[in-house]
Amino acid sequence: MRSEKADLLNEVIRSRRSIFPAQYIDKEISDDLIREMLENANCAPNHKLTQPWRFKVLKSSAKGRLGDFMAKKYKEEFVGQKFLEKKYQKLQSNPRRAAAIILICMQRDPDERLPEWEELAAVATAVQNMWLSSHAYGIGSYWSSPSVINYMNEFIEMNEGEKCLGLFYMGYYDEQQPMPKRENSLSRVEWIME
Ligand SMILES: Cc1cc2nc3c(=O)[nH]c(=O)nc-3n(C[C@H](O)[C@H](O)[C@H](O)COP(=O)(O)O)c2cc1C
Repeated sequence: MRSEKADLLNEVIRSRRSIFPAQYIDKEISDDLIREMLENANCAPNHKLTQPWRFKVLKSSAKGRLGDFMAKKYKEEFVGQKFLEKKYQKLQSNPRRAAAIILICMQRDPDERLPEWEELAAVATAVQNMWLSSHAYGIGSYWSSPSVINYMNEFIEMNEGEKCLGLFYMGYYDEQQPMPKRENSLSRVEWIME
């Protein structure tokens, strides 16, 4: 049975890609659009309705401050070990190339009624909602998880039990990306009938 709604959803899901800061063009994303995406994030499934996602939207000069913070932290923590100048430069410049960055955070239920993985999973579904919405609006985005996110409480105030899981970079872009090679879904599925 054909369904226009399903066709549209299939198209959005199947054409979503990670779009990186190097591909972003210099164009603002309106706060209203960002609010729409966050509204969709908030509709994600979550056990016991803990709504464990916490998002911090960074725009304007806050992006540069974040880039400087991440680069500095990377230098402090990784110099002498695996320090790469190219990575340092990217940490500094990527946030500046984005139109907006959303810090992806998770707030643990204070009573720990759920295992942590369930709350992580709920945050990931919220991010996917946001990712699909941004794609539907023609905005490129991607989830970045550099190791410096473990120090994010030094950049912004975070509550007890709150943890940063990554950065959601966003920006308009011109060029469509080719789809990555994925193994067929059948190779990941078993049907058990009896
Ligand atoms: C939890 C999570 C963390 C990720 N962290 C990074 C990252 O640090 N750097 C990166 O290049 N991509 C990161 N990605 C994006 C993946 O690389 C990307 O989704 C994958 O290559 C598949 O490409 P697609 O999103 O275009 O389908 C992350 C994705 C997820 C779900």
